[in-house]
Amino acid sequence: MTDTTNTPANDRVSPVTAKERVVIFDTTLRDGEQSPGATMTHDEKLEIAELLDDMGVDIIEAGFPIASEGDFRAVSEIAKRSKQSVICGLARAQYGDIDRCWEAVKHAAQPRIHTFIGTSPLHRAIPNLTMDEMAERIEQTVTHARNLCDNVQWSPMDATRTEWDYLCRTVEIAIKAGATTINIPDTVGYTAPVESAALIRNLIATVPGADDVIFATHCHNDLGMATANSLAAVAGGARQIECTINGLGERAGNTALEEVVMALRVRGDIMPYETRIDTRKLMHISRRVATVSGFAVQFNKAIVGKNAFAHESGIHQDGMLKNAETFEIMRPEDVGLSATNLVMGKHSGRAALRDKLRQMGVEVGDNQLKDVFVRFKELADRKKEVYDDDILALVTASTEVD
Ligand code: KIV
Ligand code: ZN
Repeated sequence: MTDTTNTPANDRVSPVTAKERVVIFDTTLRDGEQSPGATMTHDEKLEIAELLDDMGVDIIEAGFPIASEGDFRAVSEIAKRSKQSVICGLARAQYGDIDRCWEAVKHAAQPRIHTFIGTSPLHRAIPNLTMDEMAERIEQTVTHARNLCDNVQWSPMDATRTEWDYLCRTVEIAIKAGATTINIPDTVGYTAPVESAALIRNLIATVPGADDVIFATHCHNDLGMATANSLAAVAGGARQIECTINGLGERAGNTALEEVVMALRVRGDIMPYETRIDTRKLMHISRRVATVSGFAVQFNKAIVGKNAFAHESGIHQDGMLKNAETFEIMRPEDVGLSATNLVMGKHSGRAALRDKLRQMGVEVGDNQLKDVFVRFKELADRKKEVYDDDILALVTASTEVD
């Protein structure tokens, strides 16, 4: 959209043209729903899964089938109804979990089993396994999953706090046992972009067989870096991003789907990756997830917040009326909004007021506009936002002026 070619070359990354696909793995219904208080009903889960499928999400992690009868039913039903998306279920590194997961996802045209175990020192201490015992467990459980399903994802939970040598060893075991996707979770949102990129790059360069699988990135947002870390991981070689709508998820949440997808779209000039997402469906699904989860979206949330395409200051509104690119790097239509919202408040200028009146079908002469504007400023000083009805009342009060 914006031409930045006049910037000194060494200040910017060279523009690129050929684009590679990045697969979008949505875990709103699994990691997102794990957020305390975000529980969704069976029907709500089916509705969200349908919207994700329609929007072009490649893989939907529909739930954790062993966790409850309700999760099992939801994953099975989503699997049966799926159209284009791969349907994935989560399972711990236990045969019982994996079998239950398979029972649920097997109904899908394209099923996936996702099995995981915590590999960092802190997480190894919980099942009290030695490194060798855990390595053996990984080998056995991934093999078991692979005997059931051709599409198996394996995750070393808390990968970003796992010793490098042990991480490489476990990833190699999982690949040899048949995993087709290796997901590298930043479970506690601890990593930073430079490290995230290097971790994936070094794993691909070091682990035998790494070229035969897809590497995924799964980031949490505890330090507010989930989106940046996910995009950095892609630069390092990851080709699957795990994310949730609105960044829903435990604690500070997961990588927000709408953010990574729009970042790749808007900055495709320096991040040459494309997704299959129909971005015009983002706003609708964001609102539905907010409603069914009960987690409201913050007003200034990137892409889908109420204010993401709203302008109040006079300078901004004036610029927007002349050329929308002055203050917007995305078109509201591209994320499913009908138009930019010029909010009428105390910072708004006369040009915005005239435009607002025209949109409301009210034509006023220059003198009356001056008068309405004075009245408007007085009111805006007392009210946070001035609504259409307020403006109409101001026009009525000033009719005798012209
Ligand atoms: O954050 C995490 O480590 C997870 C795993 C289960 C993949 O959600
Ligand atoms: Zn997670």
